[in-house]
Amino acid sequence: MIHVRIAGTGSYLPGEPVSNDDLVARGIDTSDEWVAARTGIRARHLAAADVGASDLARVASERAIEAAGCDPDDIDLIIVATSTPDYIFPSTAALLQSKLGIRNSCAAFDVQAVCAGFIYGLTIAEKFIRSGSHKRALVVGAEVFSRILDWSDRSTCVLFGDGAGAVVLETSDKPGILASALHADGSHHPILCVAGSVASGQVIGDPFLRMDGQAVFKFAVKVLGEVASEVLDKAGVSAESVDWLIPHQANLRIIQATAKRLGLSMDNVITTVARHGNTSAASIPLALDVAVREGHLQRGQRIVLEGVGGGFTWGAALIDF
Ligand code: ACO
Repeated sequence: MIHVRIAGTGSYLPGEPVSNDDLVARGIDTSDEWVAARTGIRARHLAAADVGASDLARVASERAIEAAGCDPDDIDLIIVATSTPDYIFPSTAALLQSKLGIRNSCAAFDVQAVCAGFIYGLTIAEKFIRSGSHKRALVVGAEVFSRILDWSDRSTCVLFGDGAGAVVLETSDKPGILASALHADGSHHPILCVAGSVASGQVIGDPFLRMDGQAVFKFAVKVLGEVASEVLDKAGVSAESVDWLIPHQANLRIIQATAKRLGLSMDNVITTVARHGNTSAASIPLALDVAVREGHLQRGQRIVLEGVGGGFTWGAALIDF
C-alpha cells in the first residue's frame, strides 16, 4: 500500500503585525478588549495592495520545498486552496507554478472550500498520491481576505488577516495520513458568504464578506467536534493518542469548545489566532508550520488537522507526522 506523509512545511505572513489598537487608530470603532475577549485575536497581517495570494503562496511554498529537501521540479501536483485568488482565471495554482519556476508541466488547480479549503486540498492530493498517479504534491492555503472585508463593518473586519501556509506531501513506506473526512452542507450558505459576482464589467451583488456570527459559532463547534471524532473512529484510535490538535484558527472560543468536546487539554492545541487572526484556508498550514518551526511538533507525533468554513464545508485529517 502507498502511504502519504508530510515531507515539509512552510508559511509566510506579509508585513508587520497590525494590532487591535492599530485598527482603532485607523478609525475602526472597536477596542482591543472587545476583540480579544470575544475571539482571542490580538493582531493580524495585511498584504500591500499590489501583493496577491500567489505572492504569499510563493514564499510559503519555497520554504516548504526547502524543508522537504527537494527541488521545485520534483513537485508533480500543485493544489492551492483560496477564496481570494489573484484572478478569476488562470488559477492561483497555475500562477504559483510559474512563480516557482516549475517547468515540468505538472497539474495545477485551485480548490474553493473557504476555511476548510486546505483540508480539502490535502485530502485530494493524498488520494492522487495513493492512486499511484503522482509522487509529490505541493498543497497550499493562501488568502488575502483583507480584499473582501467591508472595513466599515466592525463585526467582521476585525476578525480576518492575510497569509499563506504550504506542505509538501510525498509517498512514504510508513503511514502518514491515517484518515481523512470531508463534508459540505450548502443549505447553510447565507450565514457566511461573499454573495457577489462579476458580469458585464461590473460587480453584481455584494462584494464583501457577510456573516451571522452567532450562527457560525454554533455550527462550527458542532461539526468540528463531530469530524475530529469521525477521523479518530475511521483509524480506530482514541483522542488520548493525539499529541496535537491543529484546528482552523477563527476564534479562540471555538477552538476551546472543540478541544473540550474531544476531551483534549488546551496544552495539546496549537493556537496562532491571537497573532494571525482568521486567515481562512491559510490558517491550518500556517499553524502547522508555526508548530514545527517553534519546536512544538516533533516527527513521529500524531496530529489532527480540522477546518470549517463557508458553504458550509468542513473536514479533518488524522496524521502521524
Ligand atoms: N468592536 C466592538 N463592538 C462590536 C464589534 C467590534 N468589533 N463588533 C460588534 N460589536 C458590538 C455589536 O454592535 C453589538 O452591540 P449592541 O449590543 O450595542 O448591538 C455587540 O457588540 C454584540 O454583538 P454580537 O454580534 O451579538 O457579538 P457576539 O458576542 O456574537 O460576538 C462574534 C460576535 C465575535 C463574531 C461571535 O459571534 C463569534 O465569535 N462568532 C464566530 C464567528 C467566527 O469566528 N467567524 C469566523 C469566520 S467563520 C469561520 O472561519 C469558520
